[in-house]
Amino acid sequence: MNDLDNLEINKDLPIGFVDSGLGGLSVLREAVRIMPDEDFVYYGDSANAPYGTKPQELIRELTFHAVEKLLDYGIKGLAVACNTATSAAVRPLRTKYPKLPIVGIEPAIKPAVVNTRGGRILVMATPMTIRQKKYHKLLDTYKNEADIVSVPCEGLMEFVEQGNIDGEELDTYFDTHLKPYLTDDTETIVLGCTHYPFLKQHIKRFLGERKISLIDGSLGTSLELKRRLNEKNLLRNESRKGKVEIQNSTGREEMITLSYQLLNMPVD
Ligand code: DGL
Repeated sequence: MNDLDNLEINKDLPIGFVDSGLGGLSVLREAVRIMPDEDFVYYGDSANAPYGTKPQELIRELTFHAVEKLLDYGIKGLAVACNTATSAAVRPLRTKYPKLPIVGIEPAIKPAVVNTRGGRILVMATPMTIRQKKYHKLLDTYKNEADIVSVPCEGLMEFVEQGNIDGEELDTYFDTHLKPYLTDDTETIVLGCTHYPFLKQHIKRFLGERKISLIDGSLGTSLELKRRLNEKNLLRNESRKGKVEIQNSTGREEMITLSYQLLNMPVD
């Protein structure tokens, strides 16, 4: 158990990442790209996935538990690389660990609205993210600027957890869960769950000739993480090749292998 008052933070520690499973790796790969000399430790809570269909209290509890694992390991900053866990737990985490720079992720609606050409913006996210007050506040901010429609995607993260990022069953899923929301004027799809960027190629193929941009918040979150660490003078200023350690609550070796494969998938 970490001692909150004596939370030791220094430049030499790794940066912690947490997610309900493997999705946060889509954020981590951007963070590694923009901070190559840093070390990272990633904790994927696949044993308790999905979070997105669980009640808020339970998500909060699971997120705190996962973060404690990282704090026991020793970290100098934290990315809650999960939209669902961010909406359920980022505030209480900041209250409990005021010394630790903490960033969360939320559906990238703002950049979609900034670049709108007047068409429809779809937001794919977990049912829990879509039910949260935080999300409704975000929608309220932009409701007069664009036609934003939420697409609850129960069961989609499981494809990524199983390493099934290109199977035919995905088309069946998108036929049922995405197609009914697609209109001729749909211009952008916001990938509002960190698992979904790994399905980007497949979604693009599913969309075919339609001119629809797919966007997510992974780069924005990584840039914000870098900015916060820099502000506290916690970035390593040396030229070295950082390491990435991946842990998974299932303790299964194949989850670790799959995690490294996803981490090394090119960002397109
Ligand atoms: N990766 C998570 C997110 O960004 C959600 C997946 C889950 O349901 O656990 O929302």
